[in-house]
Amino acid sequence: MTLLDRAIVRLLPAVPKPVVRFFSGRYIAGSTLDDAVHAVEKLNGEGMLATIDVLGEEITHEDEARTIAQAYRDVFEAIRQGGLDANVSVKLTALGLELSYDLCRKNLVDVVRHAASDGNFVRIDMEDSSTTDETLRLYRELREAGHANIGVVLQAYLRRTLDDVHSLADLKPNVRLCKGIYVEPPSLAYTDAEAVRASYVRSLDALLDAGAYVGIATHDEWLIGEALTRIEERGLERNAYEFQMLLGVREARARALVAAGHRLRVYVPFGEHWYGYSLRRLQENPAMAGAIAKATVGRVLGRA
Ligand code: FDA
Repeated sequence: MTLLDRAIVRLLPAVPKPVVRFFSGRYIAGSTLDDAVHAVEKLNGEGMLATIDVLGEEITHEDEARTIAQAYRDVFEAIRQGGLDANVSVKLTALGLELSYDLCRKNLVDVVRHAASDGNFVRIDMEDSSTTDETLRLYRELREAGHANIGVVLQAYLRRTLDDVHSLADLKPNVRLCKGIYVEPPSLAYTDAEAVRASYVRSLDALLDAGAYVGIATHDEWLIGEALTRIEERGLERNAYEFQMLLGVREARARALVAAGHRLRVYVPFGEHWYGYSLRRLQENPAMAGAIAKATVGRVLGRA
């Protein structure tokens, strides 16, 4: 990334929302559940699985958190009616984690129970490091309470992640492993790209050693190669792991993995609360910085 790109990425929060919306269109299924259903139908048609996320991390009231939990009931209903091959991903802040742990737990249990009644599965996304302890605590509490249809996410950029793998091992967890996207201080997270990759590989090995089902969530060709080597060396069955990618990112690579016989799940976010998610996606797409700069300057000049 050039210095100018980096500067633009830092300034993204100042970019007008309509510009952000325009450029992030490829990453989001749309505003409505119907939009998500259409996106999943298309993915399923191409042999891909999906995980549906009701966008909602910017909520500030208990009612909003409950509304998000209820929105997941509608998602399960749509999955059932449409015969879709999809599970769901939830953000605990969307279910009220920042308001109250107990409220969040209640909403999460509600979603997990609905999933279970349909034989479906809930992935708890991982957010910034202020939420890691509580997220892992909730995951353990629910697993120990007998909810088997849940998984969690670990972020390779966090220095603690290998320890987290070891402390989750007794649960034989279902873990999505990703690099991590939030801005964290160097005391908590590796900031060097190679160190993050190395941590990813260490964590992947430890998870596979622990008998975890791993969602290998990355678009990084080097990491995909490392994962494929391990799958081959360990003789893993096709249903013992899956690759995961984000909607709108490296679609051709996703198709190639499917053609090679791997399970591939695409993260499909939808809803009105699209802003935070969109910013993160644009910030990690270096090619987007210049285009956004041009569009923003264009708008400003147009207004002038
Ligand atoms: P990297 O960022 O190096 O990207 C590798 C290549 O992929 C890039 O060179 C580019 O070609 C392409 N690419 C990546 N992002 C792109 C984009 N936005 N637009 C265009 N091209 C792009 N994080 C988190 O903290 N908590 C979570 O719960 C999740 N959940 C999650 C689910 C799934 C299914 C995925 C794939 C990812 C996440 N993430 C996440 C995000 C993750 O932490 C990470 O930020 C992104 O996956 C980008 O990291 P890569 O491993 O893809 O490498």
